[in-house]
Amino acid sequence: MNKGMGLTIGVIGGAGWLGGAIAAAILDADVVRPNGLSLSYRKQRPDRFPGAFWTPDNQALVDRSDVVILSVRPADWTEVKVNMEGKLLISVMAGIPLAALCESHNTRRVFRCLPNAAAEVSKSYTPWIATKDTSEDDRAVVRAIFGACGVQDEVETEAAIDYLTGLTGSGPAFPAMLAKAMMDDALLHGLDRDVARRAVNMLIIGAGRLLERHDTCPGDTVQTFREYRGTTAAAIDEMREAGFDNAVARGLEAALRKSVAMGDAS
Ligand SMILES: NC(=O)c1ccc[n+]([C@@H]2O[C@H](COP(=O)([O-])OP(=O)(O)OC[C@H]3O[C@@H](n4cnc5c(N)ncnc54)[C@H](OP(=O)(O)O)[C@@H]3O)[C@@H](O)[C@H]2O)c1
Repeated sequence: MNKGMGLTIGVIGGAGWLGGAIAAAILDADVVRPNGLSLSYRKQRPDRFPGAFWTPDNQALVDRSDVVILSVRPADWTEVKVNMEGKLLISVMAGIPLAALCESHNTRRVFRCLPNAAAEVSKSYTPWIATKDTSEDDRAVVRAIFGACGVQDEVETEAAIDYLTGLTGSGPAFPAMLAKAMMDDALLHGLDRDVARRAVNMLIIGAGRLLERHDTCPGDTVQTFREYRGTTAAAIDEMREAGFDNAVARGLEAALRKSVAMGDAS
């Protein structure tokens, strides 16, 4: 996949957070040339992506694109009334099932993909699933687009996408929650606010970089620190005793319920 292939890609909702991040990543990775990229906006045309085609007309975007990425919020989707006959449709919307996308947009070549906000730094995890009418070439396009945004995996069921919408679609939110709880505790112990913020942010960054280098299983990391029998082991045991694992499981269950409900409401 490179500039030479002359792929044309359109991003409906290209002015938004995720649509803009995907557009930036695929331009950086040369998956598309600027003049092969179209983006649509609703209220205001952003001052981004020179050389790309901006339009408020979604059908005009579809007509000039081989591949259309649909990146509006699920609640706005019913307003996007476009015919995508003959096009490859890639939805990144949470909750909207493949069957509903096929029916609304008159195409059977549809992918449901669930990136996260880390696409902005090419570190998204993106699970995806396709209709049976998609080809190996279509799959190669999806792998190139979400490979440019980070790491991608094909999964076998839409139920897996619904679940991962809560787990990885949240991007930095859950690590940020842990970091916030730590920072609040540090402040209670009298630490300077800037020192506390730098300390917890660097803790998360360092943990991420170590994972990137060693790709260890999280359970093994926890076990290694428990076996060390130091301060970390004392904290891990107390956090578990206080219901840490159960709180995470309940939160993810709530995210799954919300993800399925968004699809049911569509
Ligand atoms: N952000 C994430 O981390 C994340 C993660 C996983 C999945 N997603 C999914 O990605 C999708 C986009 O999320 P987001 O966070 O990027 O939301 P966002 O920042 O609100 O972007 C959505 C964009 O769509 C535009 N839009 C709405 N209706 C439109 C229309 N009819 N024609 C053209 N543009 C239109 C909005 O324009 P206005 O500003 O003018 O309203 C906005 O710029 C959602 O479906 C969400 O479920 C997001």
